[in-house]
Amino acid sequence: MKALDLLYQGKAKSAYLTDDPDLVVLRFRDDTSAFDGEVIEQLVDKGAINNQFNGFIMEALGAAGIPTHFEKLLNANESVVKRLDMIPVECVVRNQAAGSLVRRLGIEEGLSFDPPLFELFLKNDELHDPMITEHHVEAFRWATRAEMATMHDLTLRVNEVLRAMFFDVGLLLVDFKIEFGRFHGEIFLGDEFSPDGCRLWDIETGEKKDKDRFRQGLGGVVEAYRDVSERLGIKLDA
Ligand code: TMP
Ligand code: ASP
Repeated sequence: MKALDLLYQGKAKSAYLTDDPDLVVLRFRDDTSAFDGEVIEQLVDKGAINNQFNGFIMEALGAAGIPTHFEKLLNANESVVKRLDMIPVECVVRNQAAGSLVRRLGIEEGLSFDPPLFELFLKNDELHDPMITEHHVEAFRWATRAEMATMHDLTLRVNEVLRAMFFDVGLLLVDFKIEFGRFHGEIFLGDEFSPDGCRLWDIETGEKKDKDRFRQGLGGVVEAYRDVSERLGIKLDA
């Protein structure tokens, strides 16, 4: 299997057609963006680490019964995935308050939620990913009510599986964003799960181990991603 024509170029990944109409190759690039693409930098090895990190997480989620688009790693920077018809909605779960929630509601960072808080955002950089509700999803027909219910349920299950996995290696899964798509009429988890799209705090020290290091200019971004990968036992080819 190899990458043929470019299908789609995102901020951090490119998708390529293959000789199988049901499969695409995702190439994870070193590009690292913040503030809806306002800032973009290349961080050496970030693409390869995220590709392999994402493969590990998607396999764990698949083993836990969550349908994902992931098929296999192709090489250090590329994976083969199912070609989904993506739904332009970002599903966010928060176990602790951070980021936009803190700014929006003026609450203290680190406040815990039990049960976890579920939020939706429209995937649209020009509009800065505005917050939406399930009613917007239905009204604009981005997804049906049944599809939205499935995405909600799967997102909370992803949280349960990954929160426990990260806790076991000394990390708090503070929040994350995932995206879904349709494949032959069924909902599958797509896009990626990596430190680019979640917040991970060291339980002992509170140190940030995710893309907030880049957003906040803290440095050591790739080193933090490596540390998280190594804690999970991922043998990185990068
Ligand atoms: P937020 O605090 O900026 O709303 O983000 C919540 C979590 O979701 C955080 O881990 C970052 C992630 N996220 C993205 O990766 N991309 C996005 O476009 C959005 C809205 C959130
Ligand atoms: N909202 C994400 C961030 O702030 C997306 C991006 O701009 O890349 O990093």
